[in-house]
Amino acid sequence: MDPSRLTDLHAYIRALPKAELHLHIEGTLEPELMFALAARNGVALPWDSVEATRAAYAFSDLQSFLDLYYAGAAALIHEQDFHDLALAYFERAHEDGVVHAELFFDPQTHTARGVAFDTVLDGLERACIEAQERWGISSRLILCFLRHLSEEDGFATLEQALPHLARIHGVGLDSSEKGHPPAKFARLFARCRELGLHIVAHAGEEGPPAYIEEALDILQVERIDHGVRAAESAALMERLAREQVPLTVCPLSNVKLCVFERLQDHNLKQLLDAGLKVTINSDDPAYFGGYVGQNYQQTAEALGLSRTELKQLAKNSLEASFVPQAVLDPWLLRLAAVPD
Ligand code: ADE
Ligand code: ZN
Repeated sequence: MDPSRLTDLHAYIRALPKAELHLHIEGTLEPELMFALAARNGVALPWDSVEATRAAYAFSDLQSFLDLYYAGAAALIHEQDFHDLALAYFERAHEDGVVHAELFFDPQTHTARGVAFDTVLDGLERACIEAQERWGISSRLILCFLRHLSEEDGFATLEQALPHLARIHGVGLDSSEKGHPPAKFARLFARCRELGLHIVAHAGEEGPPAYIEEALDILQVERIDHGVRAAESAALMERLAREQVPLTVCPLSNVKLCVFERLQDHNLKQLLDAGLKVTINSDDPAYFGGYVGQNYQQTAEALGLSRTELKQLAKNSLEASFVPQAVLDPWLLRLAAVPD
């Protein structure tokens, strides 16, 4: 492609005010910071160097990634570590025109290692406040339950979260999808709904369309994280389009985890063309080779997305966020002022 068009596209994407709605904060741990934290905290990592760590990022499926992702998270111990991690993300997101981010965090990954729930939350929240002050980025925190663990373990985590619900906006469901259907967490999510939390869940990343239906019908999610396997069911596609359930799609993640062989094979445009409320997100950018701007850009190049479609994707991301209309309106006006 003509390099000036690439630069233009980059500048265009950057100029679109956008929300990032599918971002695991632990998945923004770049190897450089991982090694710095491990040295600071006296933690041993399974790799010898930053280069060896990056070289190990060749995944065959979701589980092969999760094994490394949980190993890397062991470097995070202190409140300052969680702060530094999140602040580095916000700085990078700001460069990509992100005005609002809804961050997933996995408390069970840390509490299982003896790190207190409050340590994680305090560090992340301090970075959220600083991001608003420094870059005007607004944010929310979404607690994700690990689905490879039991529902009982999820309830114990919710118990730890109870004193902090004013700082936690919603709950999600992540980790190993296959064999851990949403129905496994029916009671836990019913309790979260009673508590007034927003509800999302990963579904249809590696799992079948039936998992997306369970997430909608049993967990009563407001957004589906990933959801790309919805394309295997015409009835589900029609429902998602009719109900305008947002999908937080992560194209570079899907290629890295072999959901699609190449970005050119990704079904994002098919989902968009079918009228689904699709958004673009980065999932775990330190592991998948690109932050949200790169996800927009590489997907646009691979699938031939027009500027109108890119603008629609940014609009979808703002509208699918959990912010009140009064906060949303100025962003939508700014977006509308960007020419096609
Ligand atoms: N945790 C972090 N990234 C994830 C993904 N892509 N799917 C499920 N769980 C995750
Ligand atoms: Zn995810």
